[in-house]
Amino acid sequence: MNVPHDISAATATRLTVKSAEDMRELGRRLAALLRPGDLVLLSGELGAGKTTMTRGLGEGLGVRGAVTSPTFVIARVHPPLGDGPALVHVDAYRLSGGLDEMEDLDLDVSLPESVVVVEWGDGKVEELSEDRLRVVIERAVGADAPAADADEADDVRSVTVTGVGERWAGVDLTPLG
Ligand SMILES: Nc1ncnc2c1ncn2[C@@H]1O[C@H](COP(=O)(O)OP(=O)(O)O)[C@@H](O)[C@H]1O
Ligand SMILES: [Mg+2]
Repeated sequence: MNVPHDISAATATRLTVKSAEDMRELGRRLAALLRPGDLVLLSGELGAGKTTMTRGLGEGLGVRGAVTSPTFVIARVHPPLGDGPALVHVDAYRLSGGLDEMEDLDLDVSLPESVVVVEWGDGKVEELSEDRLRVVIERAVGADAPAADADEADDVRSVTVTGVGERWAGVDLTPLG
């Protein structure tokens, strides 16, 4: 009875994203909330739109190089074009030992001075307890694998953004909507 605000430390918002271009725009808006040292965990099945969002995020941050699926590397560093942070784009499917392994990657960049975005497989995220922005992308209910003649409904994604930890306590996520 006395725990109505049990999870009040978390700030969360849920969005409906209707197209790949809108997902990119969401990434750009997300970039505006980020600062050096931030960790963003993107989860969702293959094809959910994690890389598409990261592409917009890279545009928003103003970093060098095209953001693509880091399929053949664990992590790719996108240096800033201006004064902002670098973007480190990680494919966690290839990180067996969790994020601690990041330290051993010998990336030519300072993680506390970068924004780190991790494309994360479902179910692994619970291992982490540090400050992070958790983004969960889901296909809308009723939408299956995209068909060649997919109508608009097939492209709808539901995105839940949750700020976890002190860094995100009280941060207003409504600019994302
Ligand atoms: N609403 C949407 N949001 C994101 N991607 C979408 C959306 N609708 C269709 N797509 C398409 O789905 C695919 C997502 O691929 P990608 O971003 O690489 O996914 P992931 O990195 O999660 O595996 C792209 O081909 C994109 O054009
Ligand atoms: Mg991807």
